[in-house]
Amino acid sequence: MGMQPLVRAVNVTKAFGHNEVLKGIDLSVESGQVVTLLGPSGSGKTTFLRCINQLETIDGGRIWVDGDLMGYREDGGKLYRLTDRQIAAQRRNIGMVFQRFNLFPHKTVLENICEAPVVVQGRKRRAVEQEALTLLERVGLQDKPRAYPNQLSGGQQQRVAIARALAMSPKLMLFDEPTSALDPELVGDVLAVMRDLALSGMTMVVVTHEMAFARDVSDHVVFMDGGVVVEEGPPKEVLVNPQHNRTRNFLQRVREEHADGVEEVPDHVRQPGEPVD
Ligand SMILES: Nc1ncnc2c1ncn2[C@@H]1O[C@H](COP(=O)(O)OP(=O)(O)OP(=O)(O)O)[C@@H](O)[C@H]1O
Ligand SMILES: [Mg+2]
Repeated sequence: MGMQPLVRAVNVTKAFGHNEVLKGIDLSVESGQVVTLLGPSGSGKTTFLRCINQLETIDGGRIWVDGDLMGYREDGGKLYRLTDRQIAAQRRNIGMVFQRFNLFPHKTVLENICEAPVVVQGRKRRAVEQEALTLLERVGLQDKPRAYPNQLSGGQQQRVAIARALAMSPKLMLFDEPTSALDPELVGDVLAVMRDLALSGMTMVVVTHEMAFARDVSDHVVFMDGGVVVEEGPPKEVLVNPQHNRTRNFLQRVREEHADGVEEVPDHVRQPGEPVD
C-alpha cells in the first residue's frame, strides 16, 4: 500500500478544435485522499474530471487509475486505444456526481440506485436492494426508497445520486460542483454526506467553490487556471497563504461572492424529523 497513487495524471493535454483547454496537467491522488479542484470558470476543471473518467479522450499524456492506464494499452512504447467495452469496464471503477443529478425520472429512488448494479454488473436484485437500503441510510434518506425524483428536494436528489454512484462500489469518486445547483439551505446535508464518505476512506476528487469543504475536508487543494495547475498543496497553505497572484485573486473573488461567510461543514447528516435550526 502507498506504493502508487490511486490517480496519477501526467502531462494531460486536451483541445476542443483550436481551444487548448488542458495544457499539461499533472496530478496525483493518494488512496483515501480527498483533493479539491478550484479554479475560475473555463479553467478546465470539468474537462479534466471528464478525462479521468474517459468521458473525454485526451490528446496527450497519461492517466492511471489504480495502476490501470485509462483508455489505452501500452506496448513497446506505443499506445493502442482500448475497445469501448474495455473502457466501459475501466469506467465502472469510477463514480461521478454532477451538478445536475440526472436521476431517471420514471424510476423510484430504489430503482435508480439498483439499475446499474443489476443491469451492468448483472448482480442479483434482492442483494443489490439490501445494499441500496443501507446506502440510503448512509445518505439520510432511509424513508425515501419508494419516492420518485420529482417528489424530492434538490439536495435529496443529489444524495440519491451519490448513493447511486456508491452502489457500483467505485474505487474513486469524482464530484463536479455537486452543490452549486442547490438552494443554500440544502447544501449542508450534501456536504455532510461527502464528508462522511471522505472519513470512510473513499478517494475523492471534488470540484467545488465551497471553501469550508476545501479547508476542513480535503487533504490537498489544486488551483487551476487557463488549463494549467497554478498552485497546489495542503488547504492551510493554498487557501490561507497562496503564493500566486492568480490564486489570491480567485480566492478573493469567491469570498466576495459568498459574503455571508464560510460556514462549517456539518459533521452529520440531519435525520428526518430533526429540527433544521
Ligand atoms: N464539449 C466541448 N466542446 C467544445 N468546447 C468545450 C467542450 N467542453 C468544454 N469546452 C471548453 O473548454 C473550456 C473549459 O471548460 P470546462 O467546462 O472544463 O471549464 P470549468 O473549469 O469546468 O468551468 P466552470 O467553472 O464554468 O464549470 C471552456 O472554454 C469550454 O468552452
Ligand atoms: Mg465545470
